[in-house]
Amino acid sequence: MLLPEQRTKLDESDDRLFYDVPRFVTHVDKNFIAQLTDLYRERLQPQTRILDLMSSWVSHLPEEMAFEQVTGHGLNAEELAKNSRLDKTLVQNLNQTPELPLPDQDFDAVLNCVSVQYLQQPDRVFAEMHRVLKPGGQVIVSFSNRMFYQKAIAAWREGTETGRVKLVQRYFRAIPGFSEPEVIVKRSPMPPMMQLMGFGGADPFYCVIATKEDE
Ligand SMILES: C[S@@+](CC[C@H](N)C(=O)[O-])C[C@H]1O[C@@H](n2cnc3c(N)ncnc32)[C@H](O)[C@@H]1O
Repeated sequence: MLLPEQRTKLDESDDRLFYDVPRFVTHVDKNFIAQLTDLYRERLQPQTRILDLMSSWVSHLPEEMAFEQVTGHGLNAEELAKNSRLDKTLVQNLNQTPELPLPDQDFDAVLNCVSVQYLQQPDRVFAEMHRVLKPGGQVIVSFSNRMFYQKAIAAWREGTETGRVKLVQRYFRAIPGFSEPEVIVKRSPMPPMMQLMGFGGADPFYCVIATKEDE
């Protein structure tokens, strides 16, 4: 799906080194997070099983919603330990080991927030998302235009924002058994110059969603 050069990063050192020190920050603005939490409120069902893949100390889930279980995967154990929504945690470098140590058909939803750009083997990770989902389960991949530039793959760095949406759609389409991905885009209505001046500036919100079809 991607050429070897499209999977490269400017910083090719082990990702665990980059994420060694916990970052208790939010990687997108309040407006983006509010839109994502609203989307989760709309699309997720209470008392279901959730996998937050590439998570940190926050999962952006609606506070009032209770789930049967939320499993958080990431690269920094301290960040995951601080995430009050997680019942279980898992630290694993997906660029070294894309296969998840999780059973088949165990989750109702897989979430991936502002992280998909760091996957060097998205085909293998998206196949894993599909494997761990129950039939009818969904994957919600959200992203904006920010990134750790040196850790994002070339295909992402060199693409336009629209091109990145198409890339994530391709990731889903490459895996048999996912529905045609749905795209949600919410950009600030202000012209870029006004945003630069601080008027109505907001991180653009992109989301690509697909469902595991019944076998
Ligand atoms: C920008 S943070 C986003 C964290 C969280 N999803 C959020 O919304 O705040 C990117 C996350 O991607 C994960 N990540 C980056 N490279 C990874 C890799 N090679 N393997 C597994 N996870 C990785 C780390 O857990 C890191 O916290």
